[in-house]
Amino acid sequence: MESANKIALITGGSRGLGKNMALQLAAKGVDVILTYRTKKEEAEAVVAEIEQTGRKAVALPLDTAEMSQFDGFFAQVAERLQTVWNRNTFDFLINNAGIDARSMFPETTEADVDRLFNIHFKGVYFLTQKALPLLADGGRIINLSTGLTRFTTPGYAAYAAMKGAVEVLTRYLAKELGPRGITVNTVAPGIIETDFTKSALESHPGVREHIASNIALGRIGVAGDIGGVVAFLCSEEARWVNAQRIEASGGMFL
Ligand SMILES: NC(=O)c1ccc[n+]([C@@H]2O[C@H](COP(=O)([O-])OP(=O)(O)OC[C@H]3O[C@@H](n4cnc5c(N)ncnc54)[C@H](OP(=O)(O)O)[C@@H]3O)[C@@H](O)[C@H]2O)c1
Repeated sequence: MESANKIALITGGSRGLGKNMALQLAAKGVDVILTYRTKKEEAEAVVAEIEQTGRKAVALPLDTAEMSQFDGFFAQVAERLQTVWNRNTFDFLINNAGIDARSMFPETTEADVDRLFNIHFKGVYFLTQKALPLLADGGRIINLSTGLTRFTTPGYAAYAAMKGAVEVLTRYLAKELGPRGITVNTVAPGIIETDFTKSALESHPGVREHIASNIALGRIGVAGDIGGVVAFLCSEEARWVNAQRIEASGGMFL
């Protein structure tokens, strides 16, 4: 699969891991449609950065917790594919958008669980379903999970359970979409320094050092540790990698 004319759709590409994925994919010759929920200016700055490298990019608004937006969103995607690329399809769907939410199990409310469910599972499920008519045969789907599905950190029961569900969904999608030549994999980052982890990393003195001491490579991850893994999974070299959970955590809690 030649990457020069490929197009990736990345949810939550305005900052953090999604932004890094967008930049690393663009560096490998992939054009990008990225979404934002609140940070329009940041998303447009990512588009400008990609355009400076000679690739094409578009930013569109999307709330992945709002299923009612999905038909309108994909109508916009189809319109941009036509006007910007003269195409009817894109090649890589990266389900990245997400929120950090932690609470100890006894204190977790129904509203907490519903919010996590909507963003981290139901949104991924139906966004992927509605993306299928526009996703090219031979394409790729990459879902973001977390190291927290393998090891446990108190306070993340609901979040990690949703990500665990996404890992199971990944295997089912790989099976059902195999006849179309579409691979489906999960990338599971360990703790990575982004806005997502800011409050946890700043919660009390010494927390960074403590976390780093539980990572074989001895440091907290940075966004650049993840974007390249996603770019690899979108490459020709990764064509036989399918239905896998690939953890990128520097060797956390081994
Ligand atoms: N950072 C980590 O340590 C870590 C570890 C494991 C897994 N992950 C997973 O990696 C993914 C990205 O995390 P991150 O660290 O990059 O987070 P981040 O820096 O907080 O960025 C989150 C991104 O998702 C978008 N977003 C948030 N809620 C959304 C919604 N309801 N609908 C659409 N977009 C939404 C944000 O858009 P706006 O900028 O417009 O608000 C932003 O682009 C998440 O799925 C997260 O669960 C992160």
